[in-house]
Amino acid sequence: MPLTGPKEMFAKAYAGGYAIGAFNVNNMEIIQGIMSAAGQEHSPVILQVSGGARKYAGQGYIMKLVEAALAESPEIPCVVHLDHGADFALCKQCIDGGFTSVMIDGSHLPFEENIALTKQVVDYAHDKGVWVEAELGKLAGIEEHVASEHHVFTEPDEAVEFVQRSGCDSLAVAIGTSHGAYKFTGDARLDFDRLEAIGKALPNYPLVLHGASSVPQEFVAMCNKYGGNVGNAKGVPEDMLRKAAKMAVCKINVDTDIRLALTACIRQELVEHPEAFDPRAYLKPAREAVKNMVAHKIRTVMGSSNTI
Ligand code: G3H
Ligand code: 13P
Ligand code: ZN
Repeated sequence: MPLTGPKEMFAKAYAGGYAIGAFNVNNMEIIQGIMSAAGQEHSPVILQVSGGARKYAGQGYIMKLVEAALAESPEIPCVVHLDHGADFALCKQCIDGGFTSVMIDGSHLPFEENIALTKQVVDYAHDKGVWVEAELGKLAGIEEHVASEHHVFTEPDEAVEFVQRSGCDSLAVAIGTSHGAYKFTGDARLDFDRLEAIGKALPNYPLVLHGASSVPQEFVAMCNKYGGNVGNAKGVPEDMLRKAAKMAVCKINVDTDIRLALTACIRQELVEHPEAFDPRAYLKPAREAVKNMVAHKIRTVMGSSNTI
């Protein structure tokens, strides 16, 4: 199956009360790990590429790796999505390069400017049949071009106006998640009343949850045990993510958990085998760790196993 857009995936996920996992990709091992997990679970998948990933690996390399993965597993419905597109030019390059979905992230802009920028991308993307995700509200923490000390939660009535006027196809909302490995200092809390209100205000409309890694404590402990210093990393509990997936959230973004799985495993391998210097010796188990973590997530968090 060639790359597909998320329209049908999200419609089925919305109706079925599950979500599609959107996993950040940066290199071959990560792409292979995710795709083999999706194949094992018979699940659709979204591979997402940040501006930073695109700079690191090169858009051409990423697309060729995805092409190779799809040739091997043609049964998996797969979207290639730009994560946190900073401006129109980047979205355009990705659309022109074959991405089937882009995010334009104007969440740092005033409301009217966010609408105008999103609409500019929507006009270009829809002309080429490409899906557009936008963001309203701000997640606390830092990502590539957006830094915010505090959450600015999404207002349901503003969300409706934003979607109507910008024409975006899906909307990332701020309900208390944040990017990275340090999401909560005290108890984890998400504003589910707000999520429900946004869902009601936008019926049959797919919402997106960013900053949704659960930061598995076994990987935190492994990193710390084998020479790392990941401190008191804490993520979103899996039961909260499951609850969001049963509501209007159709796409759940995961990057940090992949980084942790890969790093924990590589650290362990290097400490336990100090004589080893063949990268395949430590990247093979690390790739397997990504696969197992993603398969677990697809099965028990997204709920998208066996939905192809
Ligand atoms: O939301 C941000 C993603 O985790 C991507 O991170 O920009 O460092 O690739 P990155
Ligand atoms: P995490 O940092 O929680 O993995 O979030 C990733 C994300 O939202 C990518 O857009
Ligand atoms: Zn994000």
